[in-house]
Amino acid sequence: MRAVDQAWFAIRPLDPADAQAVCRVHHAAVAALANDGLHTPAQLSLWAAGMRPEVITQRLPAEGARGLVAQAAGEVIGFGVLLEAEIRALYVDVRWQGRGAGRGLLLALEALIAEAGHTRLTLNSSLNARRFYQAMGYNALREAVFPLGENEAMRCVVMEKRLREQPLSAL
Ligand SMILES: CC(C)(COP(=O)(O)OP(=O)(O)OC[C@H]1O[C@@H](n2cnc3c(N)ncnc32)[C@H](O)[C@@H]1OP(=O)(O)O)[C@@H](O)C(=O)NCCC(=O)NCCS
Repeated sequence: MRAVDQAWFAIRPLDPADAQAVCRVHHAAVAALANDGLHTPAQLSLWAAGMRPEVITQRLPAEGARGLVAQAAGEVIGFGVLLEAEIRALYVDVRWQGRGAGRGLLLALEALIAEAGHTRLTLNSSLNARRFYQAMGYNALREAVFPLGENEAMRCVVMEKRLREQPLSAL
């Protein structure tokens, strides 16, 4: 795919060399949820620990997942991952949230999924992100439990969106 230029950030494919930067974005975004009243410290700790460089360099490619990063001023400020018709991850650096990068990444992921021929996509939304996804046209299907290791889990919401063909040039 070609990079999608936005007003202040660009979106390009995730590269293994982004692994450290992606982990930094992920860990900071999760840490920022510390006082949201929706997650316990143990949940946040295990949630953050789930993202390690080898997840980006080895596990996700082995699963066939694809990723995108948002970059501004040479810095990775957000990323997203898809697997077939599912959004597997979407995180924006806490310093850059609320400025459209999450929207841009999600639309670019949706475009890739639509280009692969899917007409419906799903994701597990953490409770904090539910209203973001609703603002992006997703419907909540049901509550679920997302496992965090062997003895911990957190509540999430299974959400879906029906897709129309959405060429990258229209983003
Ligand atoms: C969820 C997340 C990716 C959103 O990224 P973002 O860059 O902050 O979102 P945007 O600025 O692109 O917002 C897009 C739209 O969603 C809305 N939105 C974003 N966060 C919202 C929230 N918490 N509640 C309600 N609406 C929200 C915005 O208002 C905007 O709608 P508008 O254009 O109608 O005003 C980001 O907040 C994040 O990384 N959160 C922590 C990690 C996380 O929970 N990821 C999801 C795991 S499932």
